[in-house]
Amino acid sequence: MTVSSHSLLPNATLAAAQRAIDRCKLLARFTETPGKIQRTFLCDPIRHCHRELANWMRALGAEVKIDAAGNFRAVYPGLAPDAHRLLIGSHLDTVPDAGEYDGALGVVLAIALIEELNGKKLPFAVEVAGFSEEEGIRFGVPFIGSRALTGTLDPDLLGRQDGNGVTIQQAIEAFGLDPNDIPAAIAHNVLGYIEFHIEQGPVLETMNRPLAAVDAIVGQSRFELIFRGAANHAGTTPMISRRDSLAGAAEWITAVERKAHSVAGLVATVGSIHATPGVTNVIAEETRLSLDVRHASNELRTQAVEALLGEAACIAQSRGLQVLWNERMNQPAVAMDPFLVVQIEKSIADAGCAPHRMASGAGHDAMILAQRIPAAMIFLRSPGGISHNPAETVEITDVAKAIDAGLRLLDRLASSREFLSGAVYKRPEV
Ligand code: GLV
Ligand code: MN
Ligand code: MN
Repeated sequence: MTVSSHSLLPNATLAAAQRAIDRCKLLARFTETPGKIQRTFLCDPIRHCHRELANWMRALGAEVKIDAAGNFRAVYPGLAPDAHRLLIGSHLDTVPDAGEYDGALGVVLAIALIEELNGKKLPFAVEVAGFSEEEGIRFGVPFIGSRALTGTLDPDLLGRQDGNGVTIQQAIEAFGLDPNDIPAAIAHNVLGYIEFHIEQGPVLETMNRPLAAVDAIVGQSRFELIFRGAANHAGTTPMISRRDSLAGAAEWITAVERKAHSVAGLVATVGSIHATPGVTNVIAEETRLSLDVRHASNELRTQAVEALLGEAACIAQSRGLQVLWNERMNQPAVAMDPFLVVQIEKSIADAGCAPHRMASGAGHDAMILAQRIPAAMIFLRSPGGISHNPAETVEITDVAKAIDAGLRLLDRLASSREFLSGAVYKRPEV
């Protein structure tokens, strides 16, 4: 084994890390928006991602399929034909104008680990999952892919429409899949789920650490709010007689920011606003906004949401407006599996890195998987703490350390009687 001079990492591991980075860059070329990275649920470029992933996994002897929710699924067999599975994955969809690594890195690292096994079989099969939808961009609800895999996708959700009036059901059919087969997407005989992901924040960089074990994922609430007033002439309507939905929304946005500053650990974001008719010389009749509220405590998050909706109602009343809201998501904080967290920590230490535990402020498929099976995550440092931004990046040495720690984790799990005999996922009643 040759060792690179600059990092004490084997050259083969650095080469695997470079290949993982190159693959993220290749997947980034499959986009809905030329010059930017954007892949929403089951858009056409996702087919190209599936094709590349299928080629990489078939070369390893894996069986590949796309399930009825559009998830990429590939199973690298275990020692016994009926071996239970370890799931490793992340998502293939992106936010608009995304970076190259959010989601994609977790999928290509799963493949890299299997490649690094060099044909060795483990006492469990390894199933690579590339989830079809995690960000919630196209339909305003996240985790369509992982919910299908855990049997928690509410069938009523299939009727939800995107901005062009296309339902989830129609999007699945247009991709050539049959929504009636969604129950068959449920994963069986799964021992656990591991997700590699960039941290998407500044913690590891500030601590000068490459990797962390994630022990919890904070809860999230998402809403759509609609302020309704009256359209009128911008030149002739006195200020005193206006019912301006956009001015009411603006007042509320600053109240959201103030509230988040006032509660330790609370983050609250209005990331989208759309005024109608949306022209210079007409007072906005209707303004639609998004709200995203997160806190590690479900109680404090719920309290904050109630306070913010109450504030919206007060602002609307004082301005002669109407306000309505639709809940899009109410996802409680989720603890990662304690056994897997400890194994990840030990594997990070075995790879020569100082271990660190942290909570994730971002949502991840792991929080859905954790409702049914033992799940945990490994974070990689995000240079500059930047994500959901084309400037998102990773250090090749951090990726190499993630591969090293991941292989050590596979070894640990393969020799753990507790893991191999542990909580095997049983098909839920559907
Ligand atoms: C997913 O990226 C999220 O919004 O946390
Ligand atoms: Mn994301
Ligand atoms: Mn992500």
